[in-house]
Amino acid sequence: MNESQDRILVERGAAIIAEAFRTYVEGFRDVTRNAREHFESANWHGVQHDAALRFDLYANAVGAGLVKLGELLGARIEDRPTWNALRETYAEAVAPRGDVELAESFFNSFTRKIFHTIGVDPAVEFISSGTAPPPVPRPGAATVRFPRAGSLRRLVREILDAYDFACGWEDADGDAGKIAIAMEDRLNAREVRAVELARPVFFRGKAAYLAGRVETDHGDVPLVMALTNPGGKIVVDAVLLDENDVSIVFSFARSYFFVEMEWPHETVAFLKTIMPRKPIAELYNAVGCNKHGKTLLYRSILRHLETTDDRFEIAPGQRGMVMSVFTLPGLDVVFKVIKDRFDYPKTVTHQEVRDKYRLVFRHDRAGRLVDAQEFEHLEFDRSRFSDELCRELGIVATDAVEFRGESVVIRHLYTERRLRPLDVYLRTAELPAAREAIVEYGQVLRDLAATNIFPGDMLLKNFGVTRHGRLIFYDYDELCLLTECNFRELPQARTDLEEVSSEPWYYVGERDIFPEEFRSFLGLRKDLLHTFLAHHEELLHVDFWRRMQDLHHRGEVVDIFPYRSSSRLRGSEEELQR
Ligand SMILES: Nc1ncnc2c1ncn2[C@@H]1O[C@H](COP(=O)(O)OP(=O)(O)OP(=O)(O)O)[C@@H](O)[C@H]1O
Ligand SMILES: [Mg+2]
Repeated sequence: MNESQDRILVERGAAIIAEAFRTYVEGFRDVTRNAREHFESANWHGVQHDAALRFDLYANAVGAGLVKLGELLGARIEDRPTWNALRETYAEAVAPRGDVELAESFFNSFTRKIFHTIGVDPAVEFISSGTAPPPVPRPGAATVRFPRAGSLRRLVREILDAYDFACGWEDADGDAGKIAIAMEDRLNAREVRAVELARPVFFRGKAAYLAGRVETDHGDVPLVMALTNPGGKIVVDAVLLDENDVSIVFSFARSYFFVEMEWPHETVAFLKTIMPRKPIAELYNAVGCNKHGKTLLYRSILRHLETTDDRFEIAPGQRGMVMSVFTLPGLDVVFKVIKDRFDYPKTVTHQEVRDKYRLVFRHDRAGRLVDAQEFEHLEFDRSRFSDELCRELGIVATDAVEFRGESVVIRHLYTERRLRPLDVYLRTAELPAAREAIVEYGQVLRDLAATNIFPGDMLLKNFGVTRHGRLIFYDYDELCLLTECNFRELPQARTDLEEVSSEPWYYVGERDIFPEEFRSFLGLRKDLLHTFLAHHEELLHVDFWRRMQDLHHRGEVVDIFPYRSSSRLRGSEEELQR
């Protein structure tokens, strides 16, 4: 093939990838626009449907692009110099885009599929943040600023008017008044100069959020307004004015928002100013750009290895029966590989474990299920693994991990945020903190039940504590839909022999669950058991679980709002009844 034929081939190839990316972005935009309509029309099943749909957009676009590329390139699809040229041409094609960083991650998804790249190959991938800096957006592309002219109430009213919804506000003026009072409680009203908000609305579940900050004489204060649609018109349900509270709304244990963004980089950078402690990778995940979030996470792991002497070590806490888990001490990430064989009494298969992680990924995570990123074909220096970890991986994870000379090649792993395992936490926590954690523990079970999830392995070691003191579940191999479980009462013993038998003498089906058994199963020490019973006794009874099942059978969508009731502008119905 001569040079000009080569050129044409490369241009066509790059155009195919750029076109696939556009298809993906358009699909993403459509589904995001639908999120607004669902919110306006209180179509909560539509929300659930689209959340699942959105997860497939990326893989579908990459898959379709790969087919076309295969037809064009034939055997040359595995030719590295061709990919090097493709990357250059593609980079030029996407350079003017506002979302060029996502476009680069998208390209890498192609190369990784083709080369099963072990580690990053600088010749064919975009490694750092790309060849060209992202184009400079027009001012105000990502945010809107509302300078204050009169009263706080007027300022808030102006904001609400600027974000209009097809169905309208129920009582914009009343809400503005309540928000102004909430702001006055927290801030010195005279010092408020302006409010700056992200231009797009953040849609998720049955709520939508306006996010930004209040500018005051003494610095900025984060601001989130949570909107709901309880009766056909929009109301402001809660106001948050604290970094921790805002950060919990954007948590890695919640499903990703639907956000219309032309300049994702700008939106994320703005969010970072409000939540400076949140890694950029997690913010990209939060706004639904999780493939780019994954790229950034990977880069931050590489950077951490380059800039420290940290070695991978076995994670603190009890060893898993299904997973071998390790961590880098200075980075709050855990790495989980599936073991070759699972210890007794685990009966799941490898495929089932993966299916469970996938189920969680697509399900409402309710602020209680940790986000996991899946990686394939990673390579690290063996010298960066502790001897103990090498020994362990060499024995229990030979399918997933291969030692090749000076390298460790990991075929498949999940990463998650590192939390403090609850069993470890309880060992040293003061009594009030331990009590709080146990109350939270019951609340996790309730929140998961409300979103049709039964965690399966409910032992304390499978829950982690965040820096906000929230409890989050991370062990998915026995997790299932609540509606798939069979909740049963323990049968009464008929004979003395049955009574004293240590094994069940009655038939136990695979999906049978006996809530009465939780009491002893959890193995809580006496004082904590007492606390648990005081708050969550009903979780030990079949009735509670069947009631939750009924609710899901009826198709009700329960949303777990990510803020305390004290942040709400009006008490909820149940709270008023209590
Ligand atoms: N996100 C996390 N943060 C901190 N530690 C974690 C995290 N995930 C797992 N661990 C640690 O690794 C251990 C094993 O992980 P996990 O519970 O996911 O695996 P498993 O093999 O399914 O466990 P089990 O034996 O309970 O079924 C946990 O007990 C905990 O100590
Ligand atoms: Mg576990």
